[in-house]
Amino acid sequence: MTTPILTLTIDGKEVSGLATETILQVARENGFSIPTLCWLEGLTSVGSCRLCMVELRGSTALHPACITLIQEGMTVTTSSERLLRYRRAIIELLFSERNHACAVCVVNGHCELQSLAQQLGLDHISFPGLYPALPVDASHSRFVMDHNRCILCTRCVRVCSEIEGAHTWDVKDRGIRSRIVADLDTPWGDSTTCTGCGKCVHVCPTGALFEKGKSVAEMFKKPPALPYLKATRAQEV
Ligand code: FES
Repeated sequence: MTTPILTLTIDGKEVSGLATETILQVARENGFSIPTLCWLEGLTSVGSCRLCMVELRGSTALHPACITLIQEGMTVTTSSERLLRYRRAIIELLFSERNHACAVCVVNGHCELQSLAQQLGLDHISFPGLYPALPVDASHSRFVMDHNRCILCTRCVRVCSEIEGAHTWDVKDRGIRSRIVADLDTPWGDSTTCTGCGKCVHVCPTGALFEKGKSVAEMFKKPPALPYLKATRAQEV
């Protein structure tokens, strides 16, 4: 059975897409830019960061574009004052929750969180910083996990299980105490499932996962070979 082609309107332009496509996919195919953080092409979409929220005519709620399928006749707004305010608030909350000191971060200049803050015009954080003192796991021979810079997007968890098939990473605890852990909370260096492929490091949007002794430019100087890397900072260097 062929997949129906649906027609919808995005920011006043009539576009079409397959019924199996999300608003984000159709928007990007047609040149519209919607900010994302947890989403990454080639991985399951989880809709957790809420940065990609859009407005739909007839609904007062906001809808995550990365997990909302298009519908016939849908009218989508991807950019408005309300959306800008909302997206700025999300980025501010992320900056205030952990310790994102860009000036001393290994991925300064190549960080998706930093880049989104710049794009959204953020020049200060109005929420009080929580800055919990979280552990840094440097037990792996090549890589480091700094939980203080993690935004819990779970890209690392998904790429490890869905692409590498290792399922080393998972999320432990809830709220401010949530952490990405290896092998059900074992030091990364003791993991028996980690293959050392580095995919988790490649897809991390911040400096939470990085390679020891290398600048981000060195880490990503080779062009990405796999589709899941399309939207990562690897393209920027
Ligand atoms: Fe859609 Fe994160 S990119 S919710």
